[in-house]
Parts: sequence; structure tokens; C-alpha cells
Amino acid sequence: MTALSRQQWYLGWISIVAALGGLLFGYDTGVISGAILFIRHQFTLSVLQTEFVVSAVLMGAFVGALSSGRLADSLGRRFLIIVTALLFIVGSLLSAFTPSIPLLIFARFIVGLAIGIAAFVAPLYVAEIAPQQYRGRLVALNQLAVTMGIVGSYLIDYQFADAANWRMMLGLGVVPALILLVGMLFLPKSPRWLVLNGYVSKARQVLLKLRDKSQVEAELNAIEKSVEPKKESGALFNKRLRPVLFIGIGLAFFQQATGINTIIYYAPIIFKTAGFHHASAAILATLGLGLVNVLATVIAIPLIDKVGRRPLLLLGMTGMLVSLFLLAAGFAMPNLVTHLRWLTFASLLIYIVGFAIGLGPMAWLVIAEIFPLRVRGEGMSVASASNWGCNLLVAMTFLTLLNFMGTATTFLLYGLVTILGIAFVYFYLPETKNVSLETIEANIEAGKPMRELGESLPVVGNLLTD
Ligand code: BGC
Repeated sequence: MTALSRQQWYLGWISIVAALGGLLFGYDTGVISGAILFIRHQFTLSVLQTEFVVSAVLMGAFVGALSSGRLADSLGRRFLIIVTALLFIVGSLLSAFTPSIPLLIFARFIVGLAIGIAAFVAPLYVAEIAPQQYRGRLVALNQLAVTMGIVGSYLIDYQFADAANWRMMLGLGVVPALILLVGMLFLPKSPRWLVLNGYVSKARQVLLKLRDKSQVEAELNAIEKSVEPKKESGALFNKRLRPVLFIGIGLAFFQQATGINTIIYYAPIIFKTAGFHHASAAILATLGLGLVNVLATVIAIPLIDKVGRRPLLLLGMTGMLVSLFLLAAGFAMPNLVTHLRWLTFASLLIYIVGFAIGLGPMAWLVIAEIFPLRVRGEGMSVASASNWGCNLLVAMTFLTLLNFMGTATTFLLYGLVTILGIAFVYFYLPETKNVSLETIEANIEAGKPMRELGESLPVVGNLLTD
């Protein structure tokens, strides 16, 4: 193994600090599953109030994602991450000290705003700082942090359950938020955002810290070229950019509509239905799933820039498909399946591994890569708002679907969506491995088909060598 260079250490450090946004995303979406039991009890909440407390974060995330795209383009990626850190701090403290339910809902909404912004601005920032050959793995650290945040929240919930201390559960998010705030103050601005806003010499200074000196001018030229005023590419909704929007929204849709959060949010209920009768066994099994999510993401990360986005997505989604059909079959024929609970456990494991090597990291990575620099923040904001919208929809309909259609048909439905998702990736998704953001942008300008947006340009080769 060769020793890491100073630049590589610095890149790693930047990506880890920015990934604290992902950690908070995972923590704050996961923590409520345990906390709600005690909040409900203490305030004797109605079903409707409970639903509001639980879904306030998702609503906030939707609003945060939708409203901040332009801000990411005008105020900058780093600035916006600092704002999210402040929102996380205020929201967590308010949740911990709230005297009333309306204020708790408001506080969780604020945390949601922060999640919605951080979930896309952190990958965006890292994608713009990373060199093309490591971009996949550095951006995917954010997804690893999400999975660690989820497991962390389960453990904290478990730790404070005996004392019924839901305030501590919700409040502890303040710790990573403070580290994120302080850490970001010392990190550089995105060189691509700097060029976009006319600060070319500052961008050069940043690149000099991140790359070998010999590479800086070529990369800077390529970035400058990509922001030259062009005919049509100014607005996100113009015709040229429709295919890219289609890819971004499609990935967001399939990441959520294939059902990941029915498992992340409701696994204990699924396990109970399958025959893990004791709540503690169901919770333990859920913790197991969370850990497998982390481990499989660790395994996927080094492969993203080697094997590529498409093969991993296709493999992962096929695993999810097999698992969903196994679940559907198991629940449809419980008499034939003597060990339904173990079949369920094994299927969910396959499902989680499939998600962790495919849609988990890739949905956030690819949307950070495909939009042209001028509208990158705005484009990601639309794609990630679609992600949160679908997340909310799936979370709110899952239990109703179980009641009306039964467990087997519900999983069959997610399986059918997964088939569509595989076809979507196969036919439309470009391979963006080891290609510069500027090459992707030039391909969009040249009107190339979606599937070919990651291919090197025929004449100039890679823009960096142009
Ligand atoms: C998704 C979340 C999901 C998490 C699970 C993220 O990429 O956006 O909705 O809960 O992965 O690991």
C-alpha cells in the first residue's frame, strides 16, 4: 500500500468533516423511533399528534431541500453547511428543552430543515472538491455516516430507554453538530463555486492545497470553460437539462419507492409480524440490520470508483428484488414456510446489503455529479426534495398498505417498483466513474443521450487534458 500524500490526507479530512452532516441526517431520522414511545406516554399523545411529531423531520427536510438550491449556488456550499450546523444546534437544544408538543414539533421541523439541506449540500461540496478518480468514495463517506448515525441513534435510544430520557435522546445530536460547525469554519470553499462566482485566483489557491501543482491549471481551465456563458444552459428547466432532471428525480424516486425506509423505520413491526414475539428480540434484530447496513457500505465504498456506479447499482437492486420476492412468498405461504421469522431476517439482510452497495450511496452520489455547475445546487435541491417527498409518502402509506393489501402483496409491490428501477438504471443511467464533472457537463451541452453522459468526449478526450 502506498503512503497517502498530504493532499490525500487533506481531502479525506474535508470529506469526514462534511460527512458529519450525514451522521446527523442518520441520527436525527433514526432517533425518533425510540424516543416517541416515551414522548407519547408523557404527553398522552393522540395518534395524529404522534404522527406529527414523527413526521415533522421529514416535512422539514422536504422544505429544506426544496428551498435551498438557489442559496447553495449563490451563497456557497460551505456557507450553507455552516448554516445547517447552526440549525442542527438550535433544533436539537429546542427539542431537548421543549415544554410543549407544538414546540417539539417546531423544533423537529427545524432539525428537518437542516437535514434536508445537509443531505445534498455535503455531497455536493465533497464532489466539487474531490479529484475525479476518488470522487465516488469520498462522496459516499457521507452515506456511510448516515448509516452510522442510524445505528448510533438506536444505541443511544437503548441507553436512555430505562430512564425514559427522550430529552437526552433528541438533544445529543448537538454534539456532532457543534463539531461540524467548528470543523467547517476551517475548511476551504468549493473551488468550483469560487470559479462560478468569479474568484478564480482564490479557486487556484484552494486547488493548490488539494492537487499536485502540475494538475491545477488544467483543472482550473476546464472549470472556467464550463462556466462560460452558453446558449441555453442557464436555467434548470430548459430542454437541454430535462434528461438530467429525469435521472436525478428518477434515482430519488427509486431510492425511496423500493421501500428502504419501511425497513429502517418499521423493522421491529415487520419482525413481530414474522414471529419474533418479544419486543426486545425485534429490536435486537433491527440493530443487527443497522450494523449490516454500515458494514456493507464500508465494503461498497472502495468499489465505487473501481467497479463503477452502474454495476453496483444493478447488482444491489437485483439483491433487493430477490429479497422482496422471498418476503412476499414467505408471507403469502406462512404454512409452507416453517421458519418464517428466519426467512424474514435473511431476506431483510439481503435487502439491506443490496441497498447499501447500490441505491444507498449511489442515489446521493450521482445527483451530485450530473448537474452542470451553474445549476448544480438548484438541480440537487429538486432531486433531493423528490427524495424526501417519496420518503414521506412511503412512510405514511406503509402501515395502511399492510392493513389493506396484506404483508405479502405490499412487498410484492415494492418488488415490482424495483424491477422498474433496474430497467431505469440499465437504460438511462450514465456511468460517471473516473470522469470529470466538466466532461459530464460538456456531454450535456453536446446533447448526448443520457446513458452516454459519462463518456469521454471523442475529440478532446477528457477535458482535463484539453
Ligand atoms: C436514504 C435514507 C435511508 C438511509 C438508510 C439514505 O441514503 O436517503 O432514506 O434511511 O439511506 O441507510
